[in-house]
Amino acid sequence: MNQPMQIESEQPYLEIRGGQTLCGEVRISGAKNSALAIMAGSLLCADECRISNVPSLADIESMGQILTALGVNIVRNGSALEFDGRHLKQAQAPYDLVSQLRASFFVIGPLLARQGEAKIPLPGGCAIGARPVDLHVRGLRAMGAHVIIDHGMVHAQVPGNGRLKGAKIYLDYPSVGATETIMMAATLAQGETIVENAAQEPEVEDLARFCNSMGAKITGAGTNTIVITGVDRLHSTDYPIIPDRVEAATFLIAGAITGSEIIIGPIVPEHLTSAIAKLEAIGPKVIKEGSNRLRLIPGELRATDIETLPYPGFPTDMQAQFMALLTIAEGSSVVSETVFENRLRHVAELKRMGADIKVKGNVAFVKSVPFLSGAPVMATDLRASAALVIAGLAAHGTTIVQGLHHLDRGYEDLEGKFKKIGANLRRVDLKQVANVKL
Ligand code: EPZ
Repeated sequence: MNQPMQIESEQPYLEIRGGQTLCGEVRISGAKNSALAIMAGSLLCADECRISNVPSLADIESMGQILTALGVNIVRNGSALEFDGRHLKQAQAPYDLVSQLRASFFVIGPLLARQGEAKIPLPGGCAIGARPVDLHVRGLRAMGAHVIIDHGMVHAQVPGNGRLKGAKIYLDYPSVGATETIMMAATLAQGETIVENAAQEPEVEDLARFCNSMGAKITGAGTNTIVITGVDRLHSTDYPIIPDRVEAATFLIAGAITGSEIIIGPIVPEHLTSAIAKLEAIGPKVIKEGSNRLRLIPGELRATDIETLPYPGFPTDMQAQFMALLTIAEGSSVVSETVFENRLRHVAELKRMGADIKVKGNVAFVKSVPFLSGAPVMATDLRASAALVIAGLAAHGTTIVQGLHHLDRGYEDLEGKFKKIGANLRRVDLKQVANVKL
């Protein structure tokens, strides 16, 4: 007997009725993590510049507010953003905005390169980990910046003529953000900068291409050694952001867990090599449709192991979504999260839906169950929220996903895109009391 479940929610939530097969094509938006870094990079430009294929997301809004506070004039024109950073007014990013968005720390490199000074609140940790910035700071110090961290503020200054100097920098860990900070700062430095053990993520490569389109001289982006030769000035550009590989993987996994054949695009297939390999190890097939679309052919789901690593290893940003799939993949899977120290918080919520998962340290042991059951669950971070939506699509009954502010940070119109391919879900807004039948 379906007992009606009384939900009283002050916050919006997603109500997902599971078991629906999906069908059709999903449009993939521009990459959030590329857009955020490139927006920071727009500070390097002494003219107006334009970036296109920018997703409409809460994080993008937050970064826009921070740039505006620094004196950049920003106009959104559809999926494009137009920047005029010719008259920066201050070198301090406001605390209340920085505390909401860790990526805002990426403005420190461009501000130092442009103005010889930057005052950025130390970004706090977040749901998935402490998120230190020591590698960013060490790189900037190697380039001649004086950096003092005091009372939660990072104050960086370049003595003398205010121009950073090229340096040879080895990163203890291939940090995406630190690679991007150093690369951006080096574009206007005096001389050559070499970054060794650099991050190789596609978003790092996209940022380098954006800077080069403004006249920077960067080679090796996308490999573990990047060489930047400083120039005096960067000019305007009109640059399209790459598609979001994490969003793409999220939809492929949703197809796999619901046994649905779907198409996604546009996408750069090479950016999904590890995700496609994992999906095919689990059972589905992923085939190319033309040059920039992929078709998922569903199949029986078998257990497999996952270890997150820096690119080109398996991406940590896809770990939670894959774990949702593995909860009903026949057999036992081992999922090791090696990149962040606290990125298994979706396990407790998946267990509320009937998943059989044990966690020891940063390793999750997943034993398959025949099916998941709908339940009210709470998102704890961006990718965990996507994992819970995926689980709800496959679960028997109705799932209520709360904590949508996490989801809205990183997915553009996720429910609209799922509805378009047949998912039975809806966003229930504020102060609604809903009788939900399980
Ligand atoms: C970027 O974060 C992404 N965010 C993250 O995506 C992604 O998970 C991460 O790279 C790894 O791929 C953006 O690009 C805006 P890191 P970032 O520096 O740059 C340690 C999402 O869901 N570290 O590569 O912060 C750090 O603690 C988000 O879209 C230091 O120790 O990641 C972590 O353990 C989540 N010192 C590891 O490196 C430093 O100075 C990887 O962090 C910097 C990082």
